[in-house]
Amino acid sequence: MQYPSVLKAVGNTPLIQIPFDTPATVLAKLEYLNPGGSVKDRSALYMVEKAEKEGKLKPGGTLIDASSGNHGIALAMIGAAKGYKVIITVTQKCSKEKLQTLQAYGAQIIMCKSTELITDPESYHNVAYKLAQETPNSFMPNQYYNEVNRDAHYTLLGPEIWEQTHGTVTHFFAGSGTGGTVSGVGRYLKEQNSSVKIFALDAANSFRATQGNPKPYKIEGIGIDFSSDVIDYNVIDEVLTVTDQEGLSILSPLAQQYGLLVGPSSGAVAAGLFQKINTLTKDDVVVLMFSDSGRAYLSKNFYGAQDEIAAPLYTQTDTYPQVKPEIDSTTL
Ligand SMILES: Cc1ncc(COP(=O)(O)O)c(C=O)c1O
Repeated sequence: MQYPSVLKAVGNTPLIQIPFDTPATVLAKLEYLNPGGSVKDRSALYMVEKAEKEGKLKPGGTLIDASSGNHGIALAMIGAAKGYKVIITVTQKCSKEKLQTLQAYGAQIIMCKSTELITDPESYHNVAYKLAQETPNSFMPNQYYNEVNRDAHYTLLGPEIWEQTHGTVTHFFAGSGTGGTVSGVGRYLKEQNSSVKIFALDAANSFRATQGNPKPYKIEGIGIDFSSDVIDYNVIDEVLTVTDQEGLSILSPLAQQYGLLVGPSSGAVAAGLFQKINTLTKDDVVVLMFSDSGRAYLSKNFYGAQDEIAAPLYTQTDTYPQVKPEIDSTTL
């Protein structure tokens, strides 16, 4: 495949069969194979390109948003490819690897205090919102409050899953942060076949699962600490809650028994499947959203105790020669 831009390689991720002990066919949608490394490449690109078409974003502009990490990384990649400046507000919960990735794409990061109150002026959402108001020619996709986020998944991901399963999908499990993925895909699949069952995975300590009394939790990407209208409960059959312990304990077996090194929200999705596994039959075709890679969380030690790395068979005594870069960055 040859593409004119990295952004044209977003989407068309593979569905991989996982041989779990069930008569049903279980397929994982490997979203970490998107160029920015997560499902958020799709919704971020869709929102940015819609804003361009509507004249809300002009050449040389600035993209600003609040993110748990992946949406920001997607914007950072898009900004780099399209020539926009990117500013992302995050909280301390964001993994070190995601922060480094944002920086590597050249985005500016603003670390905000962790607060459960969206109304707090220092919340990462409000800081982004204020910045967007103050910055000329800026666009805030506003993923938590913009229904275009959900439309992106209705327009792109839903049809992709329907076509890849040749219309046989019977169950769809996805983590819900903004709720855009599960709601957009859920609506599309239900329009094709109203009996497809849609499951949203939430963190047991999140705002929604605790009826507005959230407590800290480790799983990144799912759960939300305030209410948002992007989620569409009309297309969700059941919201399943997953504790950190349930979601994180599956990560190591997924990597070591199935070769799937996925992030914590994918562990939560697999844990949700296990809550329902006894209801599945041989005619069922289950799609699990595996939204990002475990490589973004290695520093959090979610993947089991590591054996010490064996000593090398030889000793490297030479220091590496300093190679002069062939590209002079000042001429770029
Ligand atoms: C890794 C991961 N999984 C799941 C989600 C949830 O997706 P959505 O916001 O569409 O509900 C996110 C959102 O940021 C995420 O980063």
